[in-house]
Formats: sequence, C-alpha cells, structure tokens
Amino acid sequence: MSKKVQVQTTINGEEVEFLCEPRQSLLEVLRETLLLTGAKEGCNNGNCGACNVIMNGRLVNSCLVLAVEAEGAEITTIEGIALGDRLHPLQQKFLEHAALQCGICTPGFIVSAKALLDKNPDPTEHDVRMWLAGNLCRCTGYDKIVRAVLDAADSPEMEMIRS
Ligand code: FES
Ligand code: FES
Repeated sequence: MSKKVQVQTTINGEEVEFLCEPRQSLLEVLRETLLLTGAKEGCNNGNCGACNVIMNGRLVNSCLVLAVEAEGAEITTIEGIALGDRLHPLQQKFLEHAALQCGICTPGFIVSAKALLDKNPDPTEHDVRMWLAGNLCRCTGYDKIVRAVLDAADSPEMEMIRS
C-alpha cells in the first residue's frame, strides 16, 4: 500500500479533509471515505456519467479524476444540489415527469443538467440532448429526462434561484 496523501477540498460548500492513496479516484473517496454515495459507479471508465460531479465549475466524471486532484477544489455532488430542505427544481421535475426508474443514473443526470443550466439557463431540446449525451440510462428511454430538464429550466423556481 502506498503512502497516503492528505487532501483539503470543499465539497457542497463545506471544507473537507481526507487521506487517500495517490491511485484512488475521486469517486472512490467520495463513496468509500466520505460516505457521499450519491455519485454512482457505473462503468468506472468515463462512459456512463453516473459518477458526475461539478468540480471548479466544470462537469467531470469523478471516476476519471484522481482524489489528489481535489486539493483546493470546489466540488458539488448530488448531495449538494437540494436547496436546504427543498428539492432543486431539477429534482422536482424528475419526480413530476417520472424521469427515473431504477434510479442508478439519476444523480449523474441531475448533476449534469445542473451544470448545463448553470451555463445555459434557456437550453433548446437539442442543447439538452447534446449535453446529456455523456449520461447513459438503461431504463427510461431519455425522453422523460429531457422533458424534465426543459421544464425545470422554464420553471418559476429556477427563475428565483437565478435572481
Ligand atoms: S462511473 Fe464514471 S463515467 Fe461511468
Ligand atoms: S433509471 Fe435505470 S439506468 Fe436510468
């Protein structure tokens, strides 16, 4: 076992310190060390998007980021998306549109969609489909997910968050 490295980072607005091996992925540390199990391990090779988090404003596959790269970073995981005790409009619209079945892919989709709406508050359907091309779902067929994201973007709640 190699020597552990100390990492200081910010996750969902809280300063966090952890020890990790240099070979460990951010996903592994999130799930196994920090017990933030919302990010899921699907493929572990950058293909499914189930592990997505926002790091320094960029959407990343946490399975492809080394945990040591989190030093000094600002990270948002699915656990940090809700607004206190209220669901984020994306979470609410996923429920209303029944945009999930088994739910394994859902945290990744919601984090990805949040990253999209942070950059582009008024996306077209094409924008949403292109942006979410890196997220795979084996259950829903995607249409409900796309509708949920478009509906969230148009919602008054989203307006309130932006203002
Ligand atoms: S688990 Fe990271 S992209 Fe699939
Ligand atoms: S809801 Fe099952 S993989 Fe997407």
